[in-house]
Amino acid sequence: MKKFTIGAALLSMMFTGINAQTLKSPDGKFEANFQLKNGVPFYNLKYNGNVVVEDSKLGLRLFKDSSIKFASEIAKPEDASFDLNNGFTKTAEKRDSKNETWQPILGEKKNYINDYNELAVTLNQTSSDRSIVIKFRLFNDGLGFRYEFPQQKNLNYFVIREEDSEIDFPTDMKAWWIVADYDSQEYQYQTTKISEIPTQWPKAFDSNASQTLIKNAVQSPLMLKKEGKEPLYVNVGEAAVLDYPASHLEVDAQNFKFKTHLTADRQGAKGYIQTPSTTPWRTIIVSPKAEVVMDSKMMFNLNEPTKYKDTSYIKPTKYMGVWWEMIIGKSQWAYSTAENVHIGKTDFSKLTPNGKHAANNTKVKEYIDFASANGFQGLLIEGWNTGWEDWFGHSKEFVFDFITPYPDFDLKMLNDYAHSKNVDLIMHHETSGSASNYERWSDKAFETMNQYGYKSVKTGYVGDIIPRGEHHYSQWTINHYYRIVEKANDYKIMVNSHESVRPGGESRTYPNYISAEAARGTEYEAFGGNKPDHQTILPFTRWIGGSMDYTPGIFQTKLDYYFPGDKRFVQTTLAKQLALYVVMYMPLQMAADLPENYAKHMDAFQFIKDVAADWDDTKILSAEPGDYIHTARKAKGTENWFVGGVTDENARDYTIDFSFLDKGKKYEATVYEDGKDADYINNPQSYKIYKKTVDSKSKLPIHLVRSGGYAISLKPVK
Ligand code: NOJ
Ligand code: CA
Repeated sequence: MKKFTIGAALLSMMFTGINAQTLKSPDGKFEANFQLKNGVPFYNLKYNGNVVVEDSKLGLRLFKDSSIKFASEIAKPEDASFDLNNGFTKTAEKRDSKNETWQPILGEKKNYINDYNELAVTLNQTSSDRSIVIKFRLFNDGLGFRYEFPQQKNLNYFVIREEDSEIDFPTDMKAWWIVADYDSQEYQYQTTKISEIPTQWPKAFDSNASQTLIKNAVQSPLMLKKEGKEPLYVNVGEAAVLDYPASHLEVDAQNFKFKTHLTADRQGAKGYIQTPSTTPWRTIIVSPKAEVVMDSKMMFNLNEPTKYKDTSYIKPTKYMGVWWEMIIGKSQWAYSTAENVHIGKTDFSKLTPNGKHAANNTKVKEYIDFASANGFQGLLIEGWNTGWEDWFGHSKEFVFDFITPYPDFDLKMLNDYAHSKNVDLIMHHETSGSASNYERWSDKAFETMNQYGYKSVKTGYVGDIIPRGEHHYSQWTINHYYRIVEKANDYKIMVNSHESVRPGGESRTYPNYISAEAARGTEYEAFGGNKPDHQTILPFTRWIGGSMDYTPGIFQTKLDYYFPGDKRFVQTTLAKQLALYVVMYMPLQMAADLPENYAKHMDAFQFIKDVAADWDDTKILSAEPGDYIHTARKAKGTENWFVGGVTDENARDYTIDFSFLDKGKKYEATVYEDGKDADYINNPQSYKIYKKTVDSKSKLPIHLVRSGGYAISLKPVK
């Protein structure tokens, strides 16, 4: 337990119940309390009568709001009279509730349930006569709250110095975390106690092309567990991060307390606000069951329904790509040996080809043939456009024009060829972080996509953001991502962004934002490896706010196959790669390996061909962050189910209980599991496939080897 002074205890007892507003969840299990203590706002959260979050402070600190001459303003000492964290009186209180069922355009279930009770308190700061609203929504799986800034005489424009929303836990907990950074989320997860975060923090990161670390802070969604006889799982995150910077969580390790830390711009400012305006929601998902936390749709519920008039173009897409061969270094994005090229000036046809350019007519046609023969709708081609010779690391603004192909890539011929085989090429727009350049070219780029029949784009933000001084998660750049997504909607294009900010359920409002990377994906298996527990943590963290383009499906896991002596390897068995298609929700779903590697294992590849990408139902059968996940999903519009399970570095046994199946129906199960002698280091390609008839009463024992897994497809027997 944390140290508590008698004074503080007495003080908090004195205030308990005095002028506090209580809010209950629809099922009555949660209780949130709001109160002003000497004019300072506090909240707490209880579950089944037990304190989950102790009295925690709320508020924001501002720069002087009238003159936004920034360098001089930043230099001034803080002045509490500008802050919105003290001197409040409560002037109004409003309650509301909702219980609706809505249908995501693409989702893990047909219906998402949005059931909450709401409390909105209006606070007036007497000295400045400024009013803010703090709004709480209490669901059956936890709490969301945010600040609202109504337009008013004394609050029209302001600049945020920091948002100081605290989450104060009563006890130390186990935490699955990555280091906080204004520019990257591509880190390995650490598993420590909250109290151990500061000691582990300096050892918890590797380098990145763009990196601005925040010491002793971690990223959200952050997964926590109160261990013991009555375990409690907690996920701390944020939802609807729009026109506002993404936040990180500063750690107070002695007090098991976290506090928001917003992504700053170069001046140190953290949000330029014009009222009326609202902040993102701070979310605290809580359950005694890990499965419930993983399954939570709270972040989506806290976003607005979409206003898009036409969503018919938004479709689940299974795709392959001219991609992995560049990631591992077998081929290249660039066409020539030049080191310094100028878009619009350099004549690329006169340059010396480097002989390793993958996006060439012959190879792309081969990929199209394979993707088509195996029923894939999409084929991503990277390195098709001019500019890759010096694409990042030079603070170059005009890196790409997004419309000019390399001399060996025939844009019209290849698209016609792909369409004749029912494949759509997926466009690639790497911006190299030069977001300003992308905005300059985006209309032309999307027009070109429409002209040739592209339906989706993968964008990328490798390297430092231009405008210089902005960060991947600062307010300007977040606005950029959504400007691009809205513009893509004008052109009926789906977007999958890499190196962008992690989602907080915004795809409810922007359903063409079909996926994002925004975490450490499969590519890192070639850049230093992902630990075997990585895939057992991501669905509890990165995935809580939206799907990830994890790009699984690597069958040739050992890279010495290409480069004798190469020590790099994908740290899973082949069967675990299959399991990821079920365990990870991916409406945009890549089979990332080379056709030649699938051709050698067509029996296992069958699972990737069969698995759905959009779902009517999802059941998290059993899960523990960092250890294992077993998930069952029912394919959209069919009676077919798919089951997948993964384990960390430990071998495990699990018995699948098929009681989720329709009663009385028989299903043919095709089981893909680790071979008896499989091992993710020594024998990753050992798997076995067998068929079995099952029904809702069946139980199936499965053995998962270390960093192994299994996948099952189930079809009703006619
Ligand atoms: C990093 C992305 O994550 C990867 O998928 C892409 O191939 C490269 N950038 C190049 O754009
Ligand atoms: Ca583990």
